[in-house]
Amino acid sequence: MSIDPLTPDSTGNTGDAAVPAGTGASRPRVAVLFGGRSSEHAVSCVTAAGVLDAIDRTKYDVVPVGITRSGQWTLVSADPGAWSLRSESLPEVAPGLESVVLSAEEAGSELVAHAEGTLPRSLGRVDVVFPVLHGPFGEDGTLQGMLEMADIRYVGAGVLASAVGMDKHYMKVVFEAAGLTVGPYEVITDRQWQKDPAACLERAGKLQFPLFVKPARAGSSMGITRVSDPSGLSAAVEAARLHDPKVVVEAGITGREIEVAVLQGRGTDDPRTSHPGEIAVQNGGHEWYDFEAKYVDGAAAELSCPADLPAAVSERVRELAAVAFDAVGAEGLSRVDFFYTPGGDLIINEINTMPGFTPVSMYPQMWAKSGLQYTELIDELISLALERQTGLR
Ligand SMILES: Nc1ncnc2c1ncn2[C@@H]1O[C@H](COP(=O)(O)OP(=O)(O)O)[C@@H](O)[C@H]1O
Ligand SMILES: [Mg+2]
Repeated sequence: MSIDPLTPDSTGNTGDAAVPAGTGASRPRVAVLFGGRSSEHAVSCVTAAGVLDAIDRTKYDVVPVGITRSGQWTLVSADPGAWSLRSESLPEVAPGLESVVLSAEEAGSELVAHAEGTLPRSLGRVDVVFPVLHGPFGEDGTLQGMLEMADIRYVGAGVLASAVGMDKHYMKVVFEAAGLTVGPYEVITDRQWQKDPAACLERAGKLQFPLFVKPARAGSSMGITRVSDPSGLSAAVEAARLHDPKVVVEAGITGREIEVAVLQGRGTDDPRTSHPGEIAVQNGGHEWYDFEAKYVDGAAAELSCPADLPAAVSERVRELAAVAFDAVGAEGLSRVDFFYTPGGDLIINEINTMPGFTPVSMYPQMWAKSGLQYTELIDELISLALERQTGLR
């Protein structure tokens, strides 16, 4: 299949999936928001297919809202088949004739559709937004800020936690302050790179090779290069800069990749943690967990849960995952990823406040193996969002 996420393709965008306004008044109305402006657009659509398929429609009214790559919100097909991964192309939200906006009213929030030359049309109230969006302008606090302004409840982390969790530089700053172990790294800002690239390369080149050169705010391994010697560093920085003007360079860590799914507790309860899972990348051409290993080459990565770990390590990594969740002030859900080194250290790699969320993704799989199935998980996340206060909390 084509793996170029920028290849345009108009699948599934029928725009005819309007849920009649005001029906099912007693059921919470959930706007599932997906697609978006980041390079993880297609991944988001595939996740939405999973959520649209599994969400309990006897409990919730579902309004599917797609966001195009250029940022238009539009009503789209509620048929999961329109958004699933096909062999020929990646799903993409196509521009719609009607744009949809979220309008904050005295009585609550509602969705309003408008097209050129016609009167705005109400699509009815929205009780909660489920942003099934990865990457910048979805997972990074910007959308969350917009929803806060509209005083509407939403699934997942708030503004600050989303922003910190998106940024591989600031998340490390926060993790270190919370006593977690992060690996050696250097940050190259846009200004530093423009002013003196040689100094940047010298500074980053002092880290132990191989290096992992990453856009500070991306995901799905996009823009990341593993660099085995100094000659490849400059090109790797430029490649990362195609995704983000801020770049993080990390020393390569030797260790097993262990992940924990964290789910906010109800009320004042502590965060809940799943059994740890492990990603083992098979060596058939994949040295690390790159985009192809994640989404294209089905046999490339083996996910196992519970990971084969000594009980004490398993317990410890769960504790650390909960510390990381609280350190950034996450809400709802997060997946926290670690390296478990041969020396027994648990080094935190990252937190994802909107982790991969298809039924076969690590986060839902780890919960399934821990006793919470996909449909129940979606239900729990929406319940947590409905239960929480809007505004400062
Ligand atoms: N410092 C590192 N040492 C070793 N492997 C790394 C390092 N950083 C990233 N990797 C590899 O690259 C993958 C993607 O990096 P990650 O930081 O998790 O980016 P993303 O947010 O795109 O998932 C990891 O799952 C791991 O396989
Ligand atoms: Mg990752």
